[in-house]
Amino acid sequence: MKILVIGGGGREHALAWKLKQSPRVERIFCAPGNAGTAEIGENVAISASDLPGLVRFAKENRVDLTVVGPDDSLAAGIVDLFAAADLRIFGPTKAAARLESSKIFAKELMREQGIPTAQAGTFERSDDALRFCDRLRFPVVIKADGLALGKGVIIAPDCAVARSTIDEMINQGRFGEAGRRVVVEEFLRGTECSLHALVDGANYRLLQTARDHKRAFEGDTGPNTGGMGAFSPANNWNAELEDQFHKKIMGPLLRGLHEKRITFRGLLYPGLMISADGARVLEFNCRFGDPETQVILPRMKSDLLPLLEATIDGKIDSPKASSIEWDRRPAVTVVLASGGYPGKYETGKSISGLGKAAELDGVQIFHAGTKRINSEIVTSGGRVLAITALGSTLEAARARAYEAVSRIHFENCHYRRDIALSAGYG
Ligand code: AMP
Ligand code: GLY
Repeated sequence: MKILVIGGGGREHALAWKLKQSPRVERIFCAPGNAGTAEIGENVAISASDLPGLVRFAKENRVDLTVVGPDDSLAAGIVDLFAAADLRIFGPTKAAARLESSKIFAKELMREQGIPTAQAGTFERSDDALRFCDRLRFPVVIKADGLALGKGVIIAPDCAVARSTIDEMINQGRFGEAGRRVVVEEFLRGTECSLHALVDGANYRLLQTARDHKRAFEGDTGPNTGGMGAFSPANNWNAELEDQFHKKIMGPLLRGLHEKRITFRGLLYPGLMISADGARVLEFNCRFGDPETQVILPRMKSDLLPLLEATIDGKIDSPKASSIEWDRRPAVTVVLASGGYPGKYETGKSISGLGKAAELDGVQIFHAGTKRINSEIVTSGGRVLAITALGSTLEAARARAYEAVSRIHFENCHYRRDIALSAGYG
């Protein structure tokens, strides 16, 4: 089989790496990929947003299955376009991807179905939004309705910040069209957990849990990023929460989609906040998490390909897909970023030590913002690498991941030293 993976981050390298292990996979293309995917497949110089270019490539090269990484390709309707061209693709349609691309849509569906989430209002006028803030207790959370590269969620500690944020989003177009409408919601306390479910339209199967570290700096300080590291399994999850998750979140969600005549086929990743009174939904993502994928897939012993196929074919309940085998060992991934990320950063820095780090037992290096120039691998993005390690305990996995990290060097490399450090992660 020929597979095309769309995207060029650490998540896409992990997907390509895992799919490459499937006995049925002969060739893997990545568009646009990175220096890591180039080592296991063929990079194609087409951007993840060039949808007609991707359709053309898949047709011309007789690609058997396309797997979509990034949210914006899904929100732009890549799955609908591929399906119209009779091409097999893994991911939700544009209508189903609204669960992620419109926070208002997701919030309304949750309200209709009684899914536990933060109390919220949706607004397109700044004075109405501000009046609602006054009814909540500070801090309040203000979210742009649409996709904003993970930067559209602002936690406002007081009225002054709430006022300026709402004004910038609604009246000054800080996030363009994505921020013309906003969600204002109560601030939830607790610890976060990332769930991943393969949803086949009617049924679903859960993958292992993970926890992400979203803030840029140690001790969960600094701005939100795409994710600075992760570990799996999550240490704040248990059978009781899982039971509640099935009954109060996934069941009602699928019912709500069904009532709207929307079929969701793909990977659904609900971001949850866990507190004393259970799990509440922070957001729905319609794709694999990054960097969660870099800790979930190295723990998956089963072949990923038949699971993706069963999801597309509405057969995730079939015996073939019914049990996913997992490595019991925990995994930790540490993201190495360019100094300055998530703000401004420089690229083109030479990376050394990748070979030495990869020699360590149980270590897997996933590339994100990297590219090869002649014999050198250089930085080309904000998040540069995700260094994953498995270990007999979380502590062992963590120690091994940081041992690998210590062998890798590039100028202005920034990473958090407290990934998976249990203090503070409940
Ligand atoms: P979202 O894109 O909606 O998941 O928001 C990004 C991040 O902002 C989440 O992972 C949380 O860390 C934080 N966040 C979002 N909504 C809330 C909320 N209601 N209460 C507390 N933190 C939140
Ligand atoms: N790790 C957060 C995300 O993928 O949205």
